[in-house]
Amino acid sequence: MRTHMCGSPRETDIGQRVTLCGWVARRREHGEHLAFVDLRDHTGIVQCVLNSDVDVRSEYVVRVSGVVRERPDGTRNDALPTGAVEIGECEVEILRSATPPPFPIDERADSVDENVRLQYRYLDLRRTRMQRNLRIRSAVNAAVRRSMESQGFVEVETPMLVPSTPEGAREFLVPSRKEKGSFYALPQSPQLFKQLLMVGGVDRYYQIARCLRDEDLRADRQYEFMQLDLEMSFVGQDDVLDAVGRSVLDAAEAVTGERPPEIERMTWHEAMDRYGSDKPDLRFGLELVDLGDVFSATEFKAFASASTIKGIRVPGAAAEYGRGQLDRLTERAKQAGAKGLVWLKVGDGGELESPVAKFLSPEECAGLAKELEAESGDLLLLVADEWSVACEVLGTLRNDLGRPPVHQGPYRYVWVVEFPLFVGVDPVSGRPRPGHHPFTRPHPDDVDLIESDPLAVRSIAYDLVLNGWELGSGSIRIHEPELQQRVFNALGIGPEEAARKFGFFLRPFDYGAPPHGGFAYGLDRLIAILAGEENIREVIAYPKTQSGTDPMTESPLPADPAQLAELGLRVLPSVDGDRS
Ligand code: AMO
Ligand code: AMP
Repeated sequence: MRTHMCGSPRETDIGQRVTLCGWVARRREHGEHLAFVDLRDHTGIVQCVLNSDVDVRSEYVVRVSGVVRERPDGTRNDALPTGAVEIGECEVEILRSATPPPFPIDERADSVDENVRLQYRYLDLRRTRMQRNLRIRSAVNAAVRRSMESQGFVEVETPMLVPSTPEGAREFLVPSRKEKGSFYALPQSPQLFKQLLMVGGVDRYYQIARCLRDEDLRADRQYEFMQLDLEMSFVGQDDVLDAVGRSVLDAAEAVTGERPPEIERMTWHEAMDRYGSDKPDLRFGLELVDLGDVFSATEFKAFASASTIKGIRVPGAAAEYGRGQLDRLTERAKQAGAKGLVWLKVGDGGELESPVAKFLSPEECAGLAKELEAESGDLLLLVADEWSVACEVLGTLRNDLGRPPVHQGPYRYVWVVEFPLFVGVDPVSGRPRPGHHPFTRPHPDDVDLIESDPLAVRSIAYDLVLNGWELGSGSIRIHEPELQQRVFNALGIGPEEAARKFGFFLRPFDYGAPPHGGFAYGLDRLIAILAGEENIREVIAYPKTQSGTDPMTESPLPADPAQLAELGLRVLPSVDGDRS
């Protein structure tokens, strides 16, 4: 139907007869029976000069045949790649008239209510930004697939109707028609099946896998999302990190044209200690500094009783932060779990200005300034608590005060390795809780601590982090029953309960499970960051709103009673409790 795309005519095409198809982006009347019509497709916009009695309006779908000609002097549009030319002597065929759109199909729609954008997603998708994002997505998928294939991975699809599995998130259930009262779950990830593919001898598996989790939605979370999922046999951590790293860097290079440097590594402990987060954003400083030595003999009560004292220095922020803002920072620190927050402003002569300065000795003030490398005009923030609380609180403040928008600054990838095997203790059972999932392999140097000091056990679990977002997680798995039962025991799961809960997963291992490990990263997250978007909704063609609905299809919707009956289901009248 067409000879050219709308974004392609250039000065070199002058004199050529072309045929273009697209949507009418804009129409302007020009005296002397002429109308200027901007014609749009996904490649761009070109100006067509029509007879003003041709009735085409916004978003009409048209086919235009005409001659490329130079625009008259003074009418060039340097903002458009096609801006030196226009299409004249046009013959116009209307392929489809259109109702006026509810919002302009250009960058002005960025400020339109998101529910409206999603209700008319098909119009939103016509926009340059969304077209670009979809194409980045496609380029990432293609690059990832090429990368995995070139590394000898085999793509295997796993089922969407699966049993409920102990992966942590709430699941979507699907009723069985044949076995009324029984349910499938939708997969939170292919975890179970990919490990059994290793038992099945596949050796290197990958899949661009759809995963479903009934979680509260956020900027980086959807009910449905895509993972690059992989699993490998007869490997250690380095093999997995190498394979994953290559695929991520291949994808990044395909989008940006530049290969990022090799991904650096950091232990979980170092990430927490220096950045106060297990997903450290390395694009900016504000590192956490340990002040334990400075305050080892302090008489300041809030510090004397704490095992850890840490601080951050916010350069030049003293003047910016008035009393109200400092109170809000203190509130924020408390919300994050701190007992309080000490702030100090560094004056012109290096003196420290703070309500608590009078409780600190001159040596402490000097030591504190030295450790934090304080300079006049800086704001210093200190928290005393258990190590993990002090780190997390300052990590929260660090991000609040310093974190650039996701698209800004260089891409900083980092592997965070040696996550703890267990995190925290379940208040009811008194047992430690699994950090990743209960099949994660303990670090070989720490296996002897499983019984005596479980919270000190590191694991061979690792995350990939990009600009402060968790891109993915994985681990080397346990493949031997003895070690598995020791971990279950630590979690308070005896052999019978283990057989009952996880038997369908673990029994196959008895037929010969190879040592194996794997990883999964969120493609939506990677693509969002590469596209410079703060919300993964912007890189998903049909996402759900924050409240989990789809304004375009109006789902979720009540089910037809006949359909429910066939499934053996009945909707109970909602009980409104005591809302009197
Ligand atoms: P995990 O649960 O950490 O690991 O998930 C891996 C990655 O998937 C992405 N992700 C999400 N993206 C969008 N919306 C969500 N709701 C969402 N939930 C997770 C994140 C996350 O880092 N089976 C294990 C991996 C393994 O051990 O091999 C797993 O799924 O980017
Ligand atoms: P208090 O001794 O509770 O009156 O606190 C004196 C100051 O120290 C207040 O500014 C508190 O916010 C701060 N503070 C109290 N406990 C801590 C703590 N654990 N870490 C940091 N600052 C604290």
